[in-house]
Amino acid sequence: MTRSGPLRFSLLTLFPELLRPWAQEALIGKAAARGLIAADVVDLRAFAENKHRKVDDTPYGGGAGMVIRVDVAERALASLDAPDEVILLTPAGQPFSQAMAEELSTRAHLAVLCGRYEGFDARVESLVTREVSIGDFVMMGGEAAAACLLEAVARLVPGVIGDEESHRQDSFSSGLLDYPEFTRPMTWREQSVPEVLMRGDHARIAAWRRAEALARTLARRPDLLPGTGLTPQDSAALLALGVTSAQLEAWGAPPPPAPKRPKKRRADS
Ligand SMILES: C[S@@+](CC[C@H](N)C(=O)[O-])C[C@H]1O[C@@H](n2cnc3c(N)ncnc32)[C@H](O)[C@@H]1O
Repeated sequence: MTRSGPLRFSLLTLFPELLRPWAQEALIGKAAARGLIAADVVDLRAFAENKHRKVDDTPYGGGAGMVIRVDVAERALASLDAPDEVILLTPAGQPFSQAMAEELSTRAHLAVLCGRYEGFDARVESLVTREVSIGDFVMMGGEAAAACLLEAVARLVPGVIGDEESHRQDSFSSGLLDYPEFTRPMTWREQSVPEVLMRGDHARIAAWRRAEALARTLARRPDLLPGTGLTPQDSAALLALGVTSAQLEAWGAPPPPAPKRPKKRRADS
């Protein structure tokens, strides 16, 4: 990482009051106070250059809704201090992912354009470095998407969350979904915490957690399994869960460890 100061976010929106709490409260606010990140909310309307601060207009060719003007977006972006990524939030963008969050967390300054109405004039695409969607659904505006991006990227900045190890274990970071966690009470409505977690045997706990992460991923998101860097032990666990050798091969998983041969008994024993 080449960044010397905080990771700066500039969130450009027509509804700054929606985003301010996300930029100022909780761990984001604490990280900003500690100088690890800086999250600014920029009011697009301030760049309207007309008496009524109008930022949108009707679409050429007709049709429903209003379109945000590209010149407004251009002036707003020009007011920023050299962002190294300009992100347009749009349902037509590249799907947001943990891998993308990790990539963005290495940047110095992210500008994020939140749309409203029918979105921005398509010529805005010439001003951005990437277009990002947070899922295959359409919201009324980009503010909730910007909050998702801010939350996911900021927590990857070193020092923002206390325990660096915890995000290495998170769902998607390891390539798998996270294993289940438990805390007190030990028994709740006849459901007890798995025994293995209470014995203090760290190697067994780690093996149990890995097996649970594999089982969950297989049951809920088998699409994640190819290319997750599965180990021979993982292959053995997946075979035990009913995965076939052909599937393992198709996922690029290594063969399971060879079964241990029983020790030969000495003739005199
Ligand atoms: C009503 S939407 C516009 C939808 C647009 N007409 C379309 O169908 O692609 C208004 C704004 O919400 C934001 N938005 C809505 N859904 C989104 C999603 N899934 N991912 C990212 N941004 C989204 C975008 O900034 C978009 O410009």
